Amino acid sequence: MSLSKQLFKISTRGKAWWSQVEMGPPDAILGVTEAFKADKNPNKINLGVGAYRDDKGKPWVLPSVREAEERILAENLDHEYAGIAGVPEFTALAAKLALGGNSEVIKSKRITTMQSISGTGALRIGSEFLAKYHPVKTIYQPTPTWGNHVPVFKFAGMDVKSYRYYDKATCGFDEAGALEDISKIPKGSVILLHACAHNPTGVDPTKDQWKKISEVVKKQDLFVFFDMAYQGFASGDVDGDAFAVRYFLEQGHNMCLSQSFAKNMGLYGERVGAFSVIAENSEEAGRVASQLKILIRPMYSNPPIHGARIVQKILTDPKLEKQWLVDVKQMADRIISMRTQLKSLLAKEGSTHNWNHITNQIGMFCFTGISPQQVEGLIKNHSIYLTKDGRISVAGISSNNVGYLAKALHEVTK
Ligand SMILES: Cc1ncc(COP(=O)(O)O)c(C=O)c1O
Repeated sequence: MSLSKQLFKISTRGKAWWSQVEMGPPDAILGVTEAFKADKNPNKINLGVGAYRDDKGKPWVLPSVREAEERILAENLDHEYAGIAGVPEFTALAAKLALGGNSEVIKSKRITTMQSISGTGALRIGSEFLAKYHPVKTIYQPTPTWGNHVPVFKFAGMDVKSYRYYDKATCGFDEAGALEDISKIPKGSVILLHACAHNPTGVDPTKDQWKKISEVVKKQDLFVFFDMAYQGFASGDVDGDAFAVRYFLEQGHNMCLSQSFAKNMGLYGERVGAFSVIAENSEEAGRVASQLKILIRPMYSNPPIHGARIVQKILTDPKLEKQWLVDVKQMADRIISMRTQLKSLLAKEGSTHNWNHITNQIGMFCFTGISPQQVEGLIKNHSIYLTKDGRISVAGISSNNVGYLAKALHEVTK
């Protein structure tokens, strides 16, 4: 058979083109939501989803965001492309929010910031940059870490390894384990640190523990990748939540940083975030910026503008900014109050377990410490949906369902 006939035969095989493609597993978290939707129990609760809900269990548009959008609409703006690096006013404001108004790094212009497709996009740009330019292509991530961290870096071609972080016995930070593992990481490697509200555990190091981590990281000459997806959302204080990032900078670490405005402004679907590299000096920052743009251009050309405009509006108008700080604190406070209520209701139910970690942990998630069998019991017998690792999204708890949850949690852990 002639070559052209053979090619014709192959190209008309139809379905056979993808016969070698295997069915992949469903996304763990989306799977939880699917199962929740199919459940007919009126008392069902979805504690899988990582998005804020108000006390009625509904998505919440922040009043500051609503007002910013109304003002933007009234301005009759056009829909022209942003530059490859995004909206310049937005990137400057994102850096200032993370590093603080008095940052030496910003004053000396040794930071470059690219607008990104939310936090995931920032991680992705960063992973591509490190895979191409960092001399050591290995990143060490905490165990456990956010499920997407591993594939983001692997897909970019980095080798992903881990260090101990979570102590199952205390449902808290494994200080000794983490410091020991970090002290053994080969020099020059990359280390991923969650800046605040660690996902999935809700366990953050204390200030003293951050100081110890900084020392070991410096000793090993590691390059730090800070992932800050929850600034303000953890404690309600945007400066307090940026402690680790700012402390590391003060200690002279040059590093990179991913930011997301999904949680702290409730802009989940707008996909607005930022990726920054802190360089030795402004000349180095300029070279890094040029290469970041070369990486971004063939990925998605340039980012969407609406979310960036909202952030810009809020962070440049003192009245709106003040409102936003109230809004973000309101979200953090509701979550903290749900933690307190859940813990006290468990005690009222007669649970003798130590549930202190529910209130010691911080941010959107609580790592309950329950076993996969107990998770199964919550799902099957109580229609309470969560991931197999026992993580619950505290944002999914409300005044209406916290009592039901406490009863069920006590039932499966008796
Ligand atoms: C630790 C961490 N990093 C990054 C992200 C990125 O989120 P997004 O891409 O929605 O900003 C998340 C979201 O859950 C997260 O928990």
